[in-house]
Amino acid sequence: MKLNNNICTKIRIALVTILFTMLFNISAQAEELVAKHGNLTKERALAANNDADNWMLNGRTYGDKRFSPLTQINDSNVEQLGLIWSADIASVDGLSATPLVIDGVIYMSAPFALVYALDAKTGETIWQYNPNVKLGLSFANGWTSRINRGAAVWEGKVYVATGDCRLIALNATTGSEIWTAQACNAENEDGMDGAPRVVNGKVYIGSGVSDFGSRGNLAAFDANTGKELWRFWTVPGDPKKGFETKAMQMASKTWSEGGAKNGGASVWGTIVYDPEFNSLIFGTDSAAPLNAHDRDPLGGDNLFTNSIVALDADTGEYKWHYQPVPHDAWDYNTNMPMILAELKIDGKIRKVLMQAPKSGFFYVIDRTNGEFISAENFVPTSWASHYDKATGRPVELPGARYYRNKNGRAIVYPGIWGGHNWQPMSFNPDTGLVYFSAWNIPALYETKKDAMLGGLLVDSYVLGTDKETLSGRGSLIAWDPVLQTARWKVPQALPMNGGTLTTAGNLVFHGTATGEVKAYSADAGQLLWSAKTGSSIQAGPITYGVAGQQIILVPVGAPAIARNALPEIGTAKNARGPSRLLAYALGGKAQLPPAKEIPLMAEPPKRFNSKETIAHGKDLFNMSSCWVCHGQHASGFGGTAPNLRRSPILQSKEAWYQVVVEGVKSNKGMLGQSHLSKSDAEAMRGFVIEKAWEEYQSQTTK
Ligand code: HEC
Repeated sequence: MKLNNNICTKIRIALVTILFTMLFNISAQAEELVAKHGNLTKERALAANNDADNWMLNGRTYGDKRFSPLTQINDSNVEQLGLIWSADIASVDGLSATPLVIDGVIYMSAPFALVYALDAKTGETIWQYNPNVKLGLSFANGWTSRINRGAAVWEGKVYVATGDCRLIALNATTGSEIWTAQACNAENEDGMDGAPRVVNGKVYIGSGVSDFGSRGNLAAFDANTGKELWRFWTVPGDPKKGFETKAMQMASKTWSEGGAKNGGASVWGTIVYDPEFNSLIFGTDSAAPLNAHDRDPLGGDNLFTNSIVALDADTGEYKWHYQPVPHDAWDYNTNMPMILAELKIDGKIRKVLMQAPKSGFFYVIDRTNGEFISAENFVPTSWASHYDKATGRPVELPGARYYRNKNGRAIVYPGIWGGHNWQPMSFNPDTGLVYFSAWNIPALYETKKDAMLGGLLVDSYVLGTDKETLSGRGSLIAWDPVLQTARWKVPQALPMNGGTLTTAGNLVFHGTATGEVKAYSADAGQLLWSAKTGSSIQAGPITYGVAGQQIILVPVGAPAIARNALPEIGTAKNARGPSRLLAYALGGKAQLPPAKEIPLMAEPPKRFNSKETIAHGKDLFNMSSCWVCHGQHASGFGGTAPNLRRSPILQSKEAWYQVVVEGVKSNKGMLGQSHLSKSDAEAMRGFVIEKAWEEYQSQTTK
């Protein structure tokens, strides 16, 4: 027995040892994997600013400053920057996302919610993920699917939101799916294209579009399981059905019928987190219909459209809001990037939130309670002269509310593309300046009953089609948020340039619509370095360190929405190249791989004779929102929405009708518009042919 017992004990000990070793090995391995891939914990996220080599959150820190403490590259040596590698991203439509870098791995998302993991040192792909987004579910689904503004990482998982309303968690090591949550309803004119935000084990994502009638909201999910925890609606629904929250009851009083019949206030842009107050803060979109008179004739504020809203990050309970554009009529979304900082104002340190949204004003508000501090315009604003300090409300100028004018029209500054859009801005604590792209483009707003954008026809391209009129309309601005004025400004060849990055090396990096990336001194705006990338740039560059080397990483490739807004972005020479990540470091000598040449346009089909038909076709093209995917004046190139000027379908009246009205390509994201008649469709074809001829003739005479 003893012996036996002894043997038994020995065997037992051996077995336990083996088991223990196995378990230990497995857990050691698991730990190693977690440590290697996507190891973003609460502690690391909160201390992100000191983790100089990494760029772990969308705006680098929860307050989105996009400021890096790295100084290897600085104002005295930046002219030695050169390309070290480039990685093509098989994006269907340019890049808007900010790459994330965690411990030597880059996580990058692209349209159709593709996700890439790349080696941060070499640019080699580690894994790729494709959620196979469904198209054709609704207009909003088709639109949001073609845009993606970023992924998020948390404790070994990568999160991405899709145009068909899925929030997906991936294994950061392998790229395989862990869970999927349905976050909205794509059949009901919704879709998602923003970057999820993760805080303390919760993933937050907002609804992507409310222009076509879906109800805006932001929802929180368990980061581990994908279980929905709560949802904050941003506009009240039908008041007869009661209100989900006290906040909705409060908002209801600002709608003349007690609720938003057609939804509104989507949360498609930046979501920031303020750890000091545990506040989750986001901006909201306008509402449908965009024509404010049709939406709410009594002119209520329509909360929480066009607002900055703060919630308790744990419970989703409303804390405060500030609404810069009450009763919006111009689609001045307030979803744009926000920066949390401390500023010394009137001798006192204030905890502030800063935003430069489409309205053309730069806002500084108190992030403890949403109180208005100051606002000044950074581009000409013909809708409001200034803000009333006491109320924090805009003082509107006569004539801008087009529906009150006799002819129902108004040319308004800024137009529907805003004075600044989603392109990331950065804040440098050393200079105290905020850096962002701005542009001065008006739009013609016109009341039109049948227009798809809600009783409103917008022609944001009233300037004509030649480059002269657009040049001088864009700038890079270094804004002093305390004095509320530009410290320095650099005019740009085209409007709609990219996001910015600023560093402790006294530098600002900025990509342009014309395809260059440039470095300026952060304090004085002196141009210190520039490189041609071959592709138009809209996204924000980042910087990180790997193996002792500081790298500037620039996502290039113009996203559709930007290049469709301005045909020049699409046709600018040397800027039509593919979507890529370009990595620059001191002494880099790599060559940019050549981009495919776009062939010259062949002779378009026969021109229509009737000027009236062509003009009618132009109106229909704008009213039916064709330009959203195919470009203003059908100028779009590349991408998944074909260039209609070059389309073979332009040749055939019948084939055109089948696509545009009967919807034979709806499963590919081209929904037919059955309300259009045969002659409507034909007029639109006439308009596109006219534009094709203009381009054809200008290219052959060059
Ligand atoms: C939500 C985005 C979207 C909108 C809005 C849109 N389209 Fe399209 N369109 C597409 C996509 C995507 C395709 C390509 C489908 C495919 O892969 O074959 C397409 C294809 C087409 C084609 C066929 C082109 C070819 O060469 O195959 C025509 C013609 C067309 N669209 C016209 C229009 C018109 C006219 C409007 C306005 C009534 C419009 N589209 C609105 C996305 C859109």
